[in-house]
Amino acid sequence: MGQATYTLRSMPPFSGMRCLVVDDEPRLRRVLVRLLEGEGFACAEAGSGVEALQELEKGAVPLVISDLRMPEMDGVTLLREIITRWPDTAVIVVTAVAEVESAVACLQMGALDYVAKPFHLDEVRARVSQALDKRRLLIENRDYQQGLEERVEMQARRIEELFLEGVHALVFALEAKDAYTRGHSMRVANYSVEIAHAMDLDKDLIDTIALGAELHDVGKIGVSESVLHKAGKLSDAEYRHIMEHPVIGARILGPLMRDAPGALSIVRSHHERLDGTGLPDRLKGDAIPFEARLVSVADAFDAMTSVRPYRPSLSVQHAMRELQEGQGVQFDPDIVKAFLRAFSEGTSLPIPTPQLQPLRLPTRAMEARRA
Ligand SMILES: [Fe+2]
Repeated sequence: MGQATYTLRSMPPFSGMRCLVVDDEPRLRRVLVRLLEGEGFACAEAGSGVEALQELEKGAVPLVISDLRMPEMDGVTLLREIITRWPDTAVIVVTAVAEVESAVACLQMGALDYVAKPFHLDEVRARVSQALDKRRLLIENRDYQQGLEERVEMQARRIEELFLEGVHALVFALEAKDAYTRGHSMRVANYSVEIAHAMDLDKDLIDTIALGAELHDVGKIGVSESVLHKAGKLSDAEYRHIMEHPVIGARILGPLMRDAPGALSIVRSHHERLDGTGLPDRLKGDAIPFEARLVSVADAFDAMTSVRPYRPSLSVQHAMRELQEGQGVQFDPDIVKAFLRAFSEGTSLPIPTPQLQPLRLPTRAMEARRA
């Protein structure tokens, strides 16, 4: 028992920790080595910067005490090398009193402390202990930051997954209820992306348009099936009921799509008309969000060229003519022109229904979620 107490009390503070003493004067080096060994360090020695690097290459050490003036490679060059290659190593520089400015420059470069010659052993002891404390805090802080960033990144990914899972669930529910709308939405997304390319829009806006177009009719989930699948002509009340879908869609998706307002505006405003007689808000001209104006052209073209229970499909030429005649009244003329450019002669229309693709969030919306 007495023996154990004695051992604990006499255990040097840095027992077994490795360090490297760099000085071209063997006598000074020995003084430092003896002092540090007394503190428990296992010391290696180097007579120059070059030797010090060779020693470090054999294995990194937590602490280097280095003189500044040395032949071959001076302490400043050595310090720069150590900070770049072994950033977890604490460096204390030893300077003559006259070199205090160089010592300060070393601190700015990343040395953790300096000791002025001639030094007192107690002072060296205190500086070493402080430098190693500082090193430990720096490492802990860095690891903490890194851990934090990883956690934030992971949570952002999870939020994004949850968002897409939520939207997917809606899309699949709608598909089960109304297979036509799902195929229609995907074709509309493809037409819209082609128009967007023809207008040279940036990638983020194209992603927004693709997402909004795929979801534009999701509100039909709230429309009764008998109305949705009615073969004959709709009554006024039935038409009003079916035309509630933009508002229902925007209401359902609103909380999920706070970070993608452009896509949400497509859901709400794709039945607006340029002349202000559209639904649900009777927006006019530029007051209709651009993304919604674009998707409404694609939406109308696909609706006209698809077979519906209550009517056969129109020919492509007929549908194109309708778009042209609707310019400035129902449709934005620039967008109709872009559609005609995108699907100029030789393109086979209408496009087939694409394979189901996973939904993708626009880049900016993802960044907003991560911020
Ligand atoms: Fe619609």
